Amino acid sequence: MNKKAILLAGGAGTRLYPLTTIVCKQLLPVYDKPMICYPLATLMLGGLRDVLIISTPKDLPMLQDYLGDGARLGIRIEYAAQPKPEGIAQAFLIGADFIGDSGASLILGDNIFYGRLDFYREALAIDRGACIFGYQVRDPERYGVVEFDEGGRVISLEEKPKQPKSHYAIPGLYVYDSRVVEFCRKLRPSARGELEITDLNSVYLKQNELQVKLLSRGMAWLDTGTQTSLLEAGNYIATIEHRQGLKIACLEEVAFRMGFINEAELERIVDGLPKGEYREYLRLVCAEGPGENHPEPSF
Ligand code: DAU
Repeated sequence: MNKKAILLAGGAGTRLYPLTTIVCKQLLPVYDKPMICYPLATLMLGGLRDVLIISTPKDLPMLQDYLGDGARLGIRIEYAAQPKPEGIAQAFLIGADFIGDSGASLILGDNIFYGRLDFYREALAIDRGACIFGYQVRDPERYGVVEFDEGGRVISLEEKPKQPKSHYAIPGLYVYDSRVVEFCRKLRPSARGELEITDLNSVYLKQNELQVKLLSRGMAWLDTGTQTSLLEAGNYIATIEHRQGLKIACLEEVAFRMGFINEAELERIVDGLPKGEYREYLRLVCAEGPGENHPEPSF
């Protein structure tokens, strides 16, 4: 099924104050590039080329300035405002026209995935129902959490439970069929005044139409929610990039290796970049070609 992508990059970023007084969280650096590159690269590696970026009215112009309409990356990017952080699931109401009759995948602009993305591509291929993921963490109480019965079947989902019923947190990457907007319209705000993504997922669960795929421990899902985890995420990216000599979530490279842009288009991009390490890296990518040995570009 054809799926549209929504990248939610709003919120007040209060937990990262004062870093977020000048620039929004999703534009803060994670090592050598703005945070938003990582979730956008994940969508692109999933093969999605129609992206709606949702952010606050204040932050949208800067995001738009940086990413434009996506044409240089061979994708289409539209923008929409979320005036108040009234919940993650509100993204589907804001994006209702954009989604139309398609299914949709949502990624949070502060979620970083590193590893083989087969699990995501498989989820995107699903025609009916929804698919979310489970990832083992030490501190599940900070996230949406999955509860399993003895047979390993999912029986409930809870948002930031004080007493989590498992160590499986739900990452900020979700895949839905075309009923998502209709289901969101029926949601009511939670006690904290938000349309909860966990409530949306519970609707699919109740109808027995929710798949929860567990991610392997070899996959990295990094947190950027606190000053320390942001620094750790940056160090993680730096470590892998230095070791391999390959960049993670270099959008131009991803576009090239996914076949969204050709060699001539990448060359034009490289020529327009300021002199420096990023440009030299892309020049090498260009000279090497898309390459059979990189089916999974830097991921
Ligand atoms: O990161 C995964 C977790 O994300 C999930 O496990 C939780 O189920 C989900 O609720 C969410 O939890 P967070 O505590 O991270 O939610 P937070 O309110 O911090 O929002 C996550 C990102 O989404 C953040 O960068 C801001 C953005 N956001 C959030 C809300 C509520 C918006 O753009 N608009 C919103 O209305």
